[in-house]
Amino acid sequence: FGSTTFEVQRNPSFATLNSEDVNRFKEMLGEKNVIEDEDRLATANIDWMRKYKGFSKLLLQPKSTQEVSEILKYCNSRCLAVVPQGGNTGLVGGSVPVFDEVIINIGSMNNIISLDKVSGILVCEAGCILENLDSFLLNEGFIMPLDLGAKGSCQIGGNVSTNAGGLRYVRYGSLHGSILGLEVVQANGTVLDMLGTIRKDSTGYDLKQLFIGSEGSLGIITKVSILTPPRLSSTNLAFLACKDFFSCQKLLSESKRKLGEVLSAFEFLDNQSMDMVLTYLDGVRNPLPPSVHNFYVLIETTGSNETHDKEKLEAFLLHSMESGLISDGVVAQDINQASSFWRIREGITEALMKAGAVYKYDLSLPVEKMYNLVEKMRIRLGQRAKVLGYGHLGDANLHLNISTPEYDDTVLAQIEPFVYEWTSSHRGSISAEHGLGLMKANKIHYSKSPETVELMISIKKLLDPNRILNPYKVLPHSLVQE
Ligand code: FAD
Ligand code: MLT
Ligand code: ZN
Repeated sequence: FGSTTFEVQRNPSFATLNSEDVNRFKEMLGEKNVIEDEDRLATANIDWMRKYKGFSKLLLQPKSTQEVSEILKYCNSRCLAVVPQGGNTGLVGGSVPVFDEVIINIGSMNNIISLDKVSGILVCEAGCILENLDSFLLNEGFIMPLDLGAKGSCQIGGNVSTNAGGLRYVRYGSLHGSILGLEVVQANGTVLDMLGTIRKDSTGYDLKQLFIGSEGSLGIITKVSILTPPRLSSTNLAFLACKDFFSCQKLLSESKRKLGEVLSAFEFLDNQSMDMVLTYLDGVRNPLPPSVHNFYVLIETTGSNETHDKEKLEAFLLHSMESGLISDGVVAQDINQASSFWRIREGITEALMKAGAVYKYDLSLPVEKMYNLVEKMRIRLGQRAKVLGYGHLGDANLHLNISTPEYDDTVLAQIEPFVYEWTSSHRGSISAEHGLGLMKANKIHYSKSPETVELMISIKKLLDPNRILNPYKVLPHSLVQE
């Protein structure tokens, strides 16, 4: 398992699970939804990156909000700590226990409740898998406003809890905008009905926002209401090469002006990321003729008029070639070619896992400074590591990933705290879209002022006085426990 900087002590005020607890859960949920099977627990105790491992002896699978409420009410009264788990695709160690916390997975709560076909407002249970929601909407003429590489396993409740960003953010924006309502169960079992299905609402504090990105530390999300955009008929995807990062940036600002309303994704990867994918993923090839390109950019357009959209994109690409912003490029001719282009960008995470150990950073930075950090890191690490830069350039979100054959604390010491200090000195965010989890709970001060962290801790204590919800995550544990 990964590096060892997550030293926390088990909170001594937490109870230890006993057979009476297990029997109570069986009465509440039925035997088959109370999992003690070692193999199933082994999977649920380890995160997607295989970097964080807990020792939970119990996994609960509630089927309704009422059951979630009963579980939490009981755990709160017993002071049994819990970790809410969705698809377990999180990348910051937030979704697995640290010690023996009871795992609550609401994957069985996966019903679609309603879709307003005029407004596109979808209401569903929080255990729905993102890709299943997108497939359902496809037939109804809508799409989900978010899309990510983990779509086949991640749950909408997990997406909301991490405030996930992803590939459509540049077009449809943050979940803080598209989530219209939530149903949440609080630590003491109280069900908060905030499941609004209206776009505009200025009545008092918008409390649902507190739960978006709170990573299961304030409550368990059981239902979600989300505004879904109409599915438009024409999509085009270009895979382009640029000689330097300045050209990528320039291409971004030009595409925002010239492609305007049809621009639906703007992603980038560097040459090192391309190498990683070509080396470790089967069946992936570079669609551009062999030649050393330093950067690759994917530009997607989505609009309602095939001829107009194509003409617009082609004119833009021609102009960008002539002005030297693009050194080479290809436009996908069909859906299969488009998915092979996306596979390159979305496959980087998986390729990195196959290459060995990975130190993963997810940063928001001023766009013109973004790639300097990757270059600085290469100088710091020399031959000891591969340093990759890729991400959501349209949103100035850099994924800085450092790959080594094995975890090595001397490498880590070259990366941290430098990466956080550098980000902080540029007023960036140390987590653009993945959350803080266990990995960055103690690093929050690099992006938030002491007063802000203090207020967050007060909110945590107010909503979860026994601190049973996802302990040791998000906020510095020592301060939460005080
Ligand atoms: P989990 O991993 O199970 O949980 C994540 C956090 O949410 C944990 O803290 C957990 O306790 C909490 N949680 C889960 N469900 C609930 C609930 N119902 N109520 C309360 N708390 C809950 N992220 C991006 O933002 N953009 C990307 O482009 C992106 N791409 C990815 C690609 C790959 C290949 C992988 C593996 C991950 C990627 N991620 C990305 C990260 C991850 O998929 C997202 O963070 C996702 O939103 C997590 O959803 P999940 O259901 O797997 O949640
Ligand atoms: C991505 O954009 O590919 C994801 O956030 C996953 C990652 O950072 O590797
Ligand atoms: Zn991402």
